[in-house]
Amino acid sequence: MSQGSTLWGGRFEEPPDEALWRFTVDTADRRLLLDDLRGSLAHVRMLGAVGLLSADEVARLLDGLTDLQGEAERGDFGILPGDEDVHSAVERRLGERIGPLAGKLHTGRSRNDQVCLDLRLYLRRAADRRVLGLRRLAAVLADQAEAAGDVLVPALTHLQPAQAVPLGQHLLAHAWMLLRDVERFREARARIDVSPLGAGAAGGSGLPLDPRRVAEDLGMAAIFDNSMDAVAARDFVSEYAFCCAQAMVHLSRLGEELVLWASEPFGWASYADRYTTGSSALPQKKNPDIAELARGKAASTIGDLCGLLALQKGLPLTYNRDLQEDKAAVFRADDALAGALDALSGMVASARFHPPAVSPWVTALDLAEVLVMRGLPFREAHGVVGALVTRLVGQGRSPADLQPAELEAAHPLFEGADLALAEPAGSVARRRTPGGGSMDSVRAQLGALRERLEATRS
Ligand code: ARG
Repeated sequence: MSQGSTLWGGRFEEPPDEALWRFTVDTADRRLLLDDLRGSLAHVRMLGAVGLLSADEVARLLDGLTDLQGEAERGDFGILPGDEDVHSAVERRLGERIGPLAGKLHTGRSRNDQVCLDLRLYLRRAADRRVLGLRRLAAVLADQAEAAGDVLVPALTHLQPAQAVPLGQHLLAHAWMLLRDVERFREARARIDVSPLGAGAAGGSGLPLDPRRVAEDLGMAAIFDNSMDAVAARDFVSEYAFCCAQAMVHLSRLGEELVLWASEPFGWASYADRYTTGSSALPQKKNPDIAELARGKAASTIGDLCGLLALQKGLPLTYNRDLQEDKAAVFRADDALAGALDALSGMVASARFHPPAVSPWVTALDLAEVLVMRGLPFREAHGVVGALVTRLVGQGRSPADLQPAELEAAHPLFEGADLALAEPAGSVARRRTPGGGSMDSVRAQLGALRERLEATRS
């Protein structure tokens, strides 16, 4: 590298030191190459439209940039060690192809507004992809919930059996979380879809630029309201990372359950061989590594979000080089989510569910509720059933062994026939709460969830 290869060498009397170069040069931004070229094409068309470039200059610049797009798409756009960042690389390469006219590309533009535009274009597209991935996993969970039919599992609280529910109710709980992630990404996308081009270094330009035209050309919904905000703000980046982190936290909770379900004490589920891994030492092992890594990678995604917030905290307006660090963090968060969605969708689709029969203890609330229906205050009913449970547990018996006379003796409001309540399938059949754990509710949720997912397609 030499000072002549920087975009700013004219002001300097000696070339940059190697150590400065190694420390300041960005490589993470190479991913922005195609977006940088798209933004530059729109910028050139705008410069032509407002008369800052002649028709011939526009044509030559567009040809050159289009050639570079071809190179980038083929993967032969070489970024050199002397290129300070992707924007410098494009300007250098354009110069090599079309000569000194390349020097007009940066008219009315700064890398400060340019890098924001590139990142907004990148994240806008990434948001659309993550929406697809989240929707796919939610749909897989819905299909599994439907296929589960009337298979029951215990809903757990404190990891202890609480109430019997259809397995579908449990699987749909995860799907509803993912639906909100889909909606969150779409809402964040609307705030990303704003063009900062024209803000320049910080205060705009004296040239007759037309920022609205650039935004329209790039299909962006709006332009910046304040040039300093446009180049200094990175809330669109941290918000995107939050969407990733929250979704990863949801995938991590799903992952944790996939691990538990496949464990021997649970024995609820098994996954296809192609979605599990083996042990180098233990021949009998089949490990749910995808689920574990979804859980593990959520940790670094949370870290990336925290890093992005810390990056902005205390930073004076407007652009500071610190902000270069935003890209590696948000790309890492986005990659983690993309990978986890892809792998988990396959793994969950491949799952076979075979939970053991639900323990009858989960019907204790049903017995208490029958007393409530007959007028007993809930707190008293809770005490009556609690004492009955204590007695049975002490005798090593289960509710299934209970005799009608024993139940009647437990409280005068009990009738012997109430014993039928002490059965998980009956408990689920009696469940009334909309959205609760009954088969009717699961069927209704399947319809509602699929409709809400469909509505996020537009
Ligand atoms: N590589 C820089 C970044 O990502 C581009 C903007 C550089 N601007 C500047 N004034 N040095 O933030």
